[in-house]
Amino acid sequence: MSAEADRSSGDSLSLVDLHTHFVPGVDDGARSTEEALAALGALCAQGVTRVATTPHLRASRAGGSRKLVVREKYEALRSAAAEALPDLGLSLAYEVRLDEPEVDLSDRSLGLSDRHLLVEFSMLVMPAFPVETLEVATRQDWVPVLAHPERYSGIEARYRMIAAWREMGALMCLNVASLWGRYGREAETVAHRMLADGLVDVIASDHHARPNRSESVRQAWDRLAEAGHQEAARLLLSANPGAILDGLDPAPVPAVRLGDGWSGRIKRFIGWSR
Ligand SMILES: [Fe+2]
Repeated sequence: MSAEADRSSGDSLSLVDLHTHFVPGVDDGARSTEEALAALGALCAQGVTRVATTPHLRASRAGGSRKLVVREKYEALRSAAAEALPDLGLSLAYEVRLDEPEVDLSDRSLGLSDRHLLVEFSMLVMPAFPVETLEVATRQDWVPVLAHPERYSGIEARYRMIAAWREMGALMCLNVASLWGRYGREAETVAHRMLADGLVDVIASDHHARPNRSESVRQAWDRLAEAGHQEAARLLLSANPGAILDGLDPAPVPAVRLGDGWSGRIKRFIGWSR
């Protein structure tokens, strides 16, 4: 399928988004079921067929009552979505913040699947012990899916950590909007470099159902397809996130060179054509 055909309609796409905040009223995502349904409807129209919604959860509080509140609100959303958007596959998992070294993550319902756990570091900064922090999850037989590795302040200077995380079995999940600098220069630069180095397993939206946090996986599809990377787009935005939600291993992704990141724009600005 050509990039032009891919862009013409969402009908033929089957995009999968495994990092979103649509459970109403439980974090900084959707504030109501209506707001969540409107956002989910827009995604369906763009060719998104499966969505995991992943409220924030501190690992140190994984055993608390928050999960009961989330589950109740999620079930209300799921039944409303089943009626309004019957073709959408919706599931619940958590974005688990690894905030303490000794935590109980034995509840398999926390995961995207019974093998894969979406995790993030605290405060959007590189932790003092980056490998040990992820080992909190691997020690408990999870495959960590690290949310937005490109966004942790200090990651550019410690870029080699990304290979180390992957060597210990972790998967890397970029945020869509890092592709065009929504989170600043460092995140954009690292996102483009990771794609060029083949270090990305999946791209997800981190959609918050708020006007300033509502980028979609379709935008990443269009961006990659426009640049001629349809096969990588299929893996990063459909096959791999689908495999993870099914508890399977994602496939290796070919190198993606988008070529117009921060450095590309500077080069164009100063008239240095590549
Ligand atoms: Fe998130």
